[in-house]
Amino acid sequence: MSDTKAFYLTTPIYYVNDAPHIGHAYTTTAGDVLTRWHRQRGERVWFLTGVDEHGQKVMRTAEANDVTPTEWVDRLVGTAWVPVLETIDAANDDFIRTTEVRHKERVQRFLQGLKDKGEIYEGKYDGPYCVACEEFKLPGDLLDGEGDYAGQKVCPVHGRPVEQVSETNWFFRLSAYAEKLLAHYEANPLAVEPQSACNEVTSFLRGGLQDLSISRSSFDWGIPVPWDPSQVVYVWFDALLNYATAVGLGDEPGTPGAEQFASTWPADVHLVGKDILRFHAVIWPAMLMAADLPLPKKVFAHGWLLVGGEKMSKTKLTGIAPSQIIDHFGSDAFRYYFLRSITFGSDGSFSWEDMSARYTSELANGLGNLASRGAAMVGKYCDGVLPEATAYSDAEAALQALLAETVVTADDAILALDFQTGIGAVRQFVDAVNLYVTEQAPWVLAKDEANLARLHTVLYTICESLRAIAVLHHAVMPKATASLWQQLGADIALGRLVDQRVTDAGRWGQLPVGTTVTKGANLFPRLEDPAS
Ligand code: MSP
Repeated sequence: MSDTKAFYLTTPIYYVNDAPHIGHAYTTTAGDVLTRWHRQRGERVWFLTGVDEHGQKVMRTAEANDVTPTEWVDRLVGTAWVPVLETIDAANDDFIRTTEVRHKERVQRFLQGLKDKGEIYEGKYDGPYCVACEEFKLPGDLLDGEGDYAGQKVCPVHGRPVEQVSETNWFFRLSAYAEKLLAHYEANPLAVEPQSACNEVTSFLRGGLQDLSISRSSFDWGIPVPWDPSQVVYVWFDALLNYATAVGLGDEPGTPGAEQFASTWPADVHLVGKDILRFHAVIWPAMLMAADLPLPKKVFAHGWLLVGGEKMSKTKLTGIAPSQIIDHFGSDAFRYYFLRSITFGSDGSFSWEDMSARYTSELANGLGNLASRGAAMVGKYCDGVLPEATAYSDAEAALQALLAETVVTADDAILALDFQTGIGAVRQFVDAVNLYVTEQAPWVLAKDEANLARLHTVLYTICESLRAIAVLHHAVMPKATASLWQQLGADIALGRLVDQRVTDAGRWGQLPVGTTVTKGANLFPRLEDPAS
């Protein structure tokens, strides 16, 4: 295990009451792009995702399907949640299931530790609970139901009636942490982003906190409370701990778990949707404070993918499966589209028309066309051997300067989770190179022997630009860039694409003269209209 701390990024762990939709794939894709980018900066990275298997929501779904919860989660995880990672081309380092022994044991040990410190006491909970959110609600959070639910109080997120819970449970002294959390966020204003999310959390904290019921006694699908097996751990308390149990929380010094924890924790980024911000920015850091553990460096709350102006959701049956889009456009275009077209942190709507239009203009006509023109011309005019650039002019100097600028913009933006600006900068560079090709018109230069040095300079410039584009777009579009890398002969000349540093991508002249360039398959083939 290395001495340097890994850049540690997590996604939420997803409920397995149903199969994934593109809202879930969106978070994992963002995490995958960010971690691939950090890897290409030469950092050690740990990228965790997984599934949340306990709680009433999953238990009731299993009951409704006439199977045990264990059968249900095993089936859904095996047939849907693990395969979707391959569908979207995620390169996660670990996948945690909350039913795993490693998780259960560490949760129980953590809980016992808090109990021994006096952070947990027995009390009575009487109040509303939303099973879809798996959340104890404050009466003020609820809305008056309409239509079928008239006269009932409904959850503002799911629009469904809440249930009244009255149980003797174990409580965590959450109320003791409001001031400490506020002080933490004042001292670390970037610990919750974007700014709107930070404001929401701090204003919520200013209203004070109530202690939290952290166990349930009316059902048994969960982790038993170690000192009171008649209760199971509240599903959010269990789930939040996954971020730490997956990397060895609480293991004996000298064990591999303890070493992993020391070199991974705290998390650098917890990516979450805005609906689960409070759990991550209030309850989770309070749990860590209670255990004297370091707090995550950042919780970033992204927006929702909307359908008809509402959050796409399994409960409302508006979910689109990632494969519906990926079977048609491919995983690269999926990854590119969602991160490039929606500001990370804001809501966005998906439409086939918009996706199709961007695919055609930015990927097929943009990058795809540039790559195939470049390789085809080196084939035609230089027998596929990369020529030397000996006659640089202002046009090339301008492109080289733009590339250097692009690298800085893209790196700054992606490190700040502003994917749209980062990807947009690379796209603008692609446009600039395409314009350069049109203006320099190598097919005209090729007609006159006297222009040979210029022709070679232009062709080298196109291929060297494509080399940089492959490096800078690799985190977003791993498959197409790997194919481009091969077409440029760069795998043989420069080594593996994943090993190329993004921060070094602007250094001009890396692709060696004499490299064999071959025109391969179109990176982004033209597609039929998905509706036809
Ligand atoms: N199991 C909890 C998380 C526990 S983390 C310790 C949970 N699961 S979930 O499956 O309901 O949601 C997981 C994530 O998917 C959340 O971040 C949520 O915001 C995200 N999304 C679910 N629907 C979404 C959209 N329509 N759009 C974007 N993200 C969405 O909550």
